[in-house]
Amino acid sequence: MQRVFSGIQPSGIPTLGNYLGAIRNWIKMQDDHDCIWCVVDLHAITVWQNPAELRQQTLEMTAVLLACGLDASKHILFLQSAVHAHARLAWIFNCIARLGWLNRMTQFKDKAGKDRENASAGLYVYPNLMAADIHAYHATRVPVGDDQRQHLELANDIAQKFNHDYGVDFFPNIEPMILGPAARVMSLRDGTKKMSKSDPSDQSRINLSDDADTIALKIRRAKTDPEPLPSEVAGLENRPEARNLVGIYAALTDTDHAAVLRDHGGAGFGTFKQVLTDLVVSKLSPIAAETERLLKDPDLLIQTLRIGAARAAEIADPIVAETERLVGFIGMQER
Ligand code: TYM
Repeated sequence: MQRVFSGIQPSGIPTLGNYLGAIRNWIKMQDDHDCIWCVVDLHAITVWQNPAELRQQTLEMTAVLLACGLDASKHILFLQSAVHAHARLAWIFNCIARLGWLNRMTQFKDKAGKDRENASAGLYVYPNLMAADIHAYHATRVPVGDDQRQHLELANDIAQKFNHDYGVDFFPNIEPMILGPAARVMSLRDGTKKMSKSDPSDQSRINLSDDADTIALKIRRAKTDPEPLPSEVAGLENRPEARNLVGIYAALTDTDHAAVLRDHGGAGFGTFKQVLTDLVVSKLSPIAAETERLLKDPDLLIQTLRIGAARAAEIADPIVAETERLVGFIGMQER
């Protein structure tokens, strides 16, 4: 069985974008893969996080993932900071990746914005840590949203350079799994910007914890154009907001843009937004209710993460110890 790894930052409440671009695909892969799911708190602090909020958000993220259907008894769910192999391998990868490669990362440019000089060094080497997350487990399949494509290409470049420099065939090639009609869910306020848990405007996103009224209001206020929906996919060209809402509908009904337009082509946004609201509410309210229930027992969540970390370390520690040996470190553990 191929090993799957993916991660999510506890930097806010997960959004419909995280759900459709990633979490939902994680759940689907659980039937026929060995999966490792990681709440990446080391990545979260590459931008400022209030410590008390980070703790709470980490528990909330864990609860949401379980509520979405992640199976922590069959697979592994853990916190990145609890398994030291990630930071150890990331350091080695910091010495493999080239500055030129990192300079091309569009996510760094987006996140650092105009004040690049003031961005943390951690934000700059973020993709190296991400490569370490995956390669510490020799994982070969990584389900992510479309925004992570460039980081996974870099993870493969790092693996190839490591193998080449040390004359080994140690780190495997990874296959990005960017799946479904909503691999890049856009902001509800601006169809050219990705929906993000860190967007300053709460109106730009649907959070997995939003109640029915909030979801209805956000969808009603979502930016659209005055034209009705087209009947064919070509008609969505240059209509990013329309494409986004149709993509969300398609993902939630397990179809594609064309099928949604066959059923709803010609409808005005007033009508379509109403059916979309009903659909989103019907899919998300059970998740919100289950999250709330799980959050009542934080000790159980922490216990789940503790068991996950021990199982993750069992896989990652020998791989990273071997990497250190290949690099030329004299390992002390076995002596
Ligand atoms: P994060 O927390 O930003 O996002 C988690 C996952 O959600 C996907 N995603 C989206 N998909 C569709 N539309 C959107 N608007 C949208 N926003 C987010 C992301 O693509 C991601 O799959 N760097 C990663 C976390 C990470 C990771 C890893 C992933 C750390 N190490 C190793 C895979 C493997 C991230 O951006 O998380």
